Amino acid sequence: MRMTKSLSCCVVAVVALAGALCIPVNSSAQTTGVEVTFTKDVAPILQRSCQGCHRAGELAPMSLGSYQEVRPWARSIKAKVASRAMPPWHVDQTIGITKFKDDPALSDREIETIVKWVDAGAPQGNPADLPAPRQFTEAGAWQIGTPDLIIKFPAYAVAAAGPDLFGELLADIPIDEDRYIKAIQTRSVTRSSHKVVHHALSYSADRGEGSTMGDGGQFLVEYAQGKNAEVYPEGTGVLLKKGQQARLSYHFHSIGEEAKAEVELGLVLYPKGYAPKHIRWSRQLAQPTTPLDIPAGTVARSDGYTILHKPARLISFQPHMHNLGKRQCLELIYPTSGTRTTTELINCADFNNNWHLTYNYADDVQPLVPAGTILHNIQWHDNSAANPRALDPKNWVGDGQRTIDEMGFFWIGWVELTEEEYKTQLAERKAAQRMAVPSGRQ
Ligand code: HEC
Repeated sequence: MRMTKSLSCCVVAVVALAGALCIPVNSSAQTTGVEVTFTKDVAPILQRSCQGCHRAGELAPMSLGSYQEVRPWARSIKAKVASRAMPPWHVDQTIGITKFKDDPALSDREIETIVKWVDAGAPQGNPADLPAPRQFTEAGAWQIGTPDLIIKFPAYAVAAAGPDLFGELLADIPIDEDRYIKAIQTRSVTRSSHKVVHHALSYSADRGEGSTMGDGGQFLVEYAQGKNAEVYPEGTGVLLKKGQQARLSYHFHSIGEEAKAEVELGLVLYPKGYAPKHIRWSRQLAQPTTPLDIPAGTVARSDGYTILHKPARLISFQPHMHNLGKRQCLELIYPTSGTRTTTELINCADFNNNWHLTYNYADDVQPLVPAGTILHNIQWHDNSAANPRALDPKNWVGDGQRTIDEMGFFWIGWVELTEEEYKTQLAERKAAQRMAVPSGRQ
């Protein structure tokens, strides 16, 4: 199939992370002659979408506050926003569900503004136009608000060089009665810690329960580099039992300098005595049906499936792959009705191992699925020289735990529904959709 000219231009822009942006011929960028300036147009965008990470003490490499700080980065900023590499948000916004909680993505118009500003020589503009500085609470602030409980795991010294490290760390859970978790976030405390923690799964478990590879007890939350917080929908929670210990099943790796891995867990709890109506599940699902087999120099596809035996409301989607991860899609295969089986592509997200992003669906679009629905994982691993993260495209790669091996599954967050609840929620959704006026990003 031949691509149209404008489409191939977009593809090139994305693949090469180049600055070229496909702007439709009749776009406002070309018809308005008003000057775009830092103080009036660009600073508000950077405040909202970039400074959360690009400020002193946060994980990004440079601060994007003042004009003087931003100016030297102008060309790089243009390239990163035009290719949608920044802010990190890799879900394909042209497919399936596009409404998420805390979506940091820039709108087409915002990208256009930044590109136009850089192309015009990145002028400062009138200092009086500058918005008041955004107030931040503290560096590394919790995304879940102030936690009711912070569980700190013991610090772990990671040598400058050595094999990948796997194991578990233990910490007490200081509660005197059973409580339900409302929101949870794993935080890698320092910047050097951030670099050495490849991933860390936390569990709550009875003392002595579980194996050293972390499959015992109740799973709480996954953390991997660049991961954001998980907030459960209202009335939904995860049980935290008193007297148990928190277990962190970790995977650290050396980074060429000595570093300390310091991980802590922040939890917002429901009030004492409150039991939410629904338990929120989160599991690694749809593992590939055959072991990953990614020959040297190629792109390989694999598929995995998980059947949901009860009706469900899907809450979040998070791809998990390693360095060769290119893209992952979640398709729903609905139960066969008569002779018809329908499928629906829910999301596709490009993958970058620096960023393990959870896409939390907005409440009014969380997929409501009947019992028997199959979650289908379609994924691609890129072991070619075109992938800058492929360590050695001349080598075959397969499954494994190490950072240089591959993995591929998704984390799905969901709540189970009774048949009654499913029918009611579906009817409510349909009614709301009939009332809704179409709206889009601006
Ligand atoms: C969630 C945190 C986060 C947000 C939000 C974010 N960045 Fe970044 N940014 C990073 C990190 C971490 C890096 C370095 C690693 C990487 O490139 O993935 C980076 C790298 C960059 C770079 C490349 C720096 C270099 O060394 O070449 C640019 C340019 C950039 N960001 C611009 C932006 C802009 C503009 C925004 C907002 C529109 C933004 N970022 C939003 C975390 C963030």
